[in-house]
Formats: sequence, C-alpha cells, structure tokens
Amino acid sequence: MLRTNTCGELRLSDVNKQTTLAGWVQTVRKFGSITFVDLRDRYGITQLLFSENLNEQLDANPLGREFVLQVTGTVNERSNKNSNIPTGEIEITVTDFTILNKSITPPFTIQDDTDGGDDLRMKYRFLDLRRQAVKKNLELRYAVGRSTRNYLHEKDFMDIETPFLIKSTPEGARDFVVPSRMNPGQFYALPQSPQTFKQLLMVSGYDRYYQIVKCFRDEDLRADRQPEFTQIDCEMCFVEQEDILQMFEGLIKRIFKDVKNIDYTAQVERMTWENAMWNYGNDKPDIRYEMKLCNLKYPSHTFPTQKDISSLISGVDFKVFDEAETVIAIAAPGCSDYTRKQTDELTEWVKRPQIGMKGLVYIKCNADGTFKSSVDKFYNEEKLTAIASSVNAKPGDLIFILAGAEERTRKATSELRLYLGQQLGLRKTDEFKLLWVLDFPLFEYAEEDNRWVARHHPFTSPKPSDIETMIQHNPAIENAAEYLKHPYANIKANAYDMVLNGNEIGGGSIRIYQKELQQKMFAALGMNEAEQQHKFGFLLGAFEYGAPPHGGVAFGFDRLCSILGGSESIRDFIAFPKNNSGRDVMIDAPSSIDEKQFEELQIKLNLKQ
Ligand code: AMO
Repeated sequence: MLRTNTCGELRLSDVNKQTTLAGWVQTVRKFGSITFVDLRDRYGITQLLFSENLNEQLDANPLGREFVLQVTGTVNERSNKNSNIPTGEIEITVTDFTILNKSITPPFTIQDDTDGGDDLRMKYRFLDLRRQAVKKNLELRYAVGRSTRNYLHEKDFMDIETPFLIKSTPEGARDFVVPSRMNPGQFYALPQSPQTFKQLLMVSGYDRYYQIVKCFRDEDLRADRQPEFTQIDCEMCFVEQEDILQMFEGLIKRIFKDVKNIDYTAQVERMTWENAMWNYGNDKPDIRYEMKLCNLKYPSHTFPTQKDISSLISGVDFKVFDEAETVIAIAAPGCSDYTRKQTDELTEWVKRPQIGMKGLVYIKCNADGTFKSSVDKFYNEEKLTAIASSVNAKPGDLIFILAGAEERTRKATSELRLYLGQQLGLRKTDEFKLLWVLDFPLFEYAEEDNRWVARHHPFTSPKPSDIETMIQHNPAIENAAEYLKHPYANIKANAYDMVLNGNEIGGGSIRIYQKELQQKMFAALGMNEAEQQHKFGFLLGAFEYGAPPHGGVAFGFDRLCSILGGSESIRDFIAFPKNNSGRDVMIDAPSSIDEKQFEELQIKLNLKQ
C-alpha cells in the first residue's frame, strides 16, 4: 500500500503516530520558511506541514495544484485549529515526500465554490468529480442503490439482467438504434426500458424481479431528463395494485430512512388522476402546500362528476370570462399587499410564450374584509365575496384568475401555483411529501395522427369495469375536435405514478396478461394484425403459455437521487452526464465513424442538408 491512512481519517487521538498519506495537492501556502499543503483524497483533506529542513528538497521538487503526492510524517496537534473539517485539529509534520505524479494547471479550481462554468466542468468532468460537492452526490447515489438492493433482496426480489441490444418498437419516445454488421441493413434498438423482458420473466415464473438498469430514450432533454438514465425496474406476479403500492412505498420509505435518516411513518397520500387535474391542474402535484385550484368554469365533459359553479362569474357581461372555455382561480396566502409592480410582473410572467395566457385577473382580499380587484367594474362586493369563498381565500390573500382554453389554462394555473409556491418559500427542499396518483386514463389522444396512444404503455391493463367499453366501441375518432367525447377518453387504467415534491419519480401498472385483450389493446392503438405480430409477436406468443397476472413499477433512479439531494438537475447525480444537446463533451460523443466502419456495416451516409 502506498498509504497507511486516508486524508479524512486522522484525529487528535492519533497525535504522535507515524503516518503515510497519498492524495492530491489542493493548496500550497508558504509562510516564511515553512510551507502548508492541503492534501485531498476521496475521504477528506489533511493539512501537511513542511518545515524549514525540507525547503531545499521542495525547491528542487516544487509542488503544484493537483500534483499527486505521497508524504510520511508524524501526526501533531495544530495550533491554529479549523473546526470546519473533521481533521481540522491535527496536521502532519512531514519527514519525507515523493511526488507520484505531476499535474498541469487545472482549468478551474477544484473546490466547492469553483470558478469553472458548466461547459468547462463537463469537458473536464474527471476533475469536476474530484470536487467535494459532486462526490457527495455520487455517494448519495451509491447509498440509494445500496438501500434499494438490500430492501428488494430481503423481499425475495431477484436481480436479473436483460439485453441492451433489442428490437425497435417505438412507442412514446424515439429509439436509439444500432446497426448490425452481421445482419446488414438491420438494426437493434437500445431499450427505452426492459418492459417486455420483465413481463416475459413473469411468464417464466421469476415472480419478483428487479434491476437497476440503464434505459435509453431519444427525446428532448430537460433538467430532469437524460438520453440514457437509470431505472429501479421491478415486476411481480400474483399481485394486485394494492400489493404493489404497499411494496414500493415500503422501498421509498426504506431509502428515506437509510439515506436521509427520515422516518416517513405517515401513510403515503393517494389521489386519483382526475382529482389531481381538478385540484392542481397537474398529474404530479406538489402537495407540500395547499393553494388548490378553484374551477370557476370548465367544459362539462372534462370533469363530469364535479359541481358547476360557473354562475358565480357569469351574467355580468365580462367578456374575458364569458368567452373562455375554462376559468380557474387560486389564492396566494398573505399576498394581498402585493404592489402594482408585483402584480404587473406576474401578469407579464403568465403572458410569456411558455405559459401563453393573455392576462391575469387579480382580487385582493383586504384584511378588513373589503376587496380591490382588476375586475371591480364587473363584480360587486357580494359577487367578489362569493368568489373568494369558493377559492377558500381568507382576508390577506390575493386571488389570481386565469381564463382561456381548457388545457392551456389548467396547465398555466398549475405553473403559476408552482411559481408562487417557490416565491413564497412553500417548496422546501428538506421537506418530503410522497403521493400516489391513481386511475390514469388508459389512452391519450395524438392529434397529429388522429388516433389513440397508450398513456403509460400498451401493456397496461384497463380497469376491469372499462374492459367492456373498450371491446364494444370502435377506436376510430370521427370528430377530432370532440375526441374527449369518445368513450375511449374516459377509460381508466390500472396505472399509478409515485410523485415526490411535484416530481414523477416512478410509474407502473397492472399489466394485460391475456392474449386477446392485448391484441384488442394493440388494435385500439391502430396496429393491424401483421404489425402486432411483427412488433410484439414474441409477447403475444408467450401469453399463450400460461402467463400469470402481473404488474410492476419503475422508479427514475437519477431523479430520486437528485430530489433527495435537494437539486433540480439529475446531471449533478450522474458521473458522466450528457449536456442538453445530448452530447458528452468530454469524450466528444456522438461523433462520426470511420469509412471502414460504414463499409463493414454496408451503410452509406446520405445526410439531408
Ligand atoms: P416510465 O416511462 O414512466 O415507465 O419511466 C419510469 C420513471 O423513469 C424516470 N424517467 C426518466 N428519468 C430521467 N430521464 C428520462 N429521460 C426519463 N424518462 C423517465 C421517471 C419515470 O417515472 N416500463 C415502465 C415502467 C413500468 O410500467 O413498470 C416505464 O419505463 O422518474
């Protein structure tokens, strides 16, 4: 061994011990005739003291930042202690040192507050990874993985690997494809998830499967999306939805305990998809705070079971509301003293193209019970009182109202709720609130093709009570504008998402396991029999050999880590991430390949300009 101790290990109790350390030079500080060096490794930083007697040797072998250094010396108590680091009470009085390797000047400082910008840090990610802040994230990731494996192992889950070179069956995102040299003109696809393989494992009788596995999706990237990301992928057979919910909220609670020492004893809240959309305008609501939506007006077929309160805002000839399909209000707590400037800024915010609203109506609920609003002309005190009461606004609150087309307005109100929640400090990174969202619609309407697509994936089963509707009705959509009135729009799925602090951290479903229903599902998605056979013949075939009832879930491992680590960006929790254009700027990928490789693959490039 080139060392006897690590740089994070020695304490006052080790004083007078002989030690040999090896690590990287973080800083070199010369004070008169003595030199202090901070030596860093994975475990911490230890101060080294080079006394006058080593000066000649130091002059002959000068130290620089990031040099790899081995030192031998004695542990001594420091006169000037540093209470910020665990080794801050001691230093090593060096007797001997060897430069194991030199370093050229690094492009940024390797400290928590680095001077390196994002691009530079990604180009030199191997240096960025030396930083304590990044290392902490990878340690957290490792801890989440370890906790997951322990829990699932205790519950009899078996880790089984599934292939990465599979068949392209794009549904949802685009596939990444890989040409096959041995089968010219044919391509593999990288899996978007091991979905069909884990189902086949159930048919094979491996009743509890898991895998912490890479998935590949060629989709537009965001802070919480990478083209290759990791899932905690799980499947079980002979279970019902309730069994899965219990098993996997158990997993997440265990991770909370092991990684954050949080006893999440509360029952994980549950909400139907419909209630999530109604109360929060969003299928992954952040329930750390209230501020629920008040649906003053909406197309009746979207929420057929809810009470219509549109008379509250009608009959006063206010065209903005009268002409809107949907009008939704929220109350910002304690904001009635917002200035004109603040409400103007929020109005500009909702008018940005990403939000896309035409304006923002406000009603200030003054502490004395009176109102001041941008619609005083139309609504008298009595009407405003009624609106405030339905929005659950109290004196001191500020009501915001958005009006427009259903989908856009609902989304915009949800965004505004999140924005205000952030501004008002209601979205605390050290508070964790889990939620199951249940009963998702089975289908989603794809406008460009005027057809149904699976909202989760084509293997998700419909609610038993909706199977008849699916079998009875023709999936064809005759009137695109009124697709929501098609019976398929109301079919619900045995699907569930787990939401943590407003982020979808996992999703799954109880699967279809009968061949006929699976064929019906494929047909509903517009696949004829030949296509079904071509794409999923293997699965339909397997369902003929005794497929058990089964279901499962997959968690976004990177996402879970980033939320537990209090960060918005999953990149911080991936050792070698891609940038927003899907590039690895360190190894410079993707890149062109040799002519010889093209020849071997029998592929000719014909790029469109
Ligand atoms: P789904 O597509 O919902 O389900 O994915 C499961 C979870 O994976 C995470 N996730 C991502 N994380 C980072 N980057 C991405 N591009 C990305 N896409 C998804 C999310 C999501 O909740 N096979 C099904 C699961 C099942 O039915 O069992 C599936 O893949 O946190």
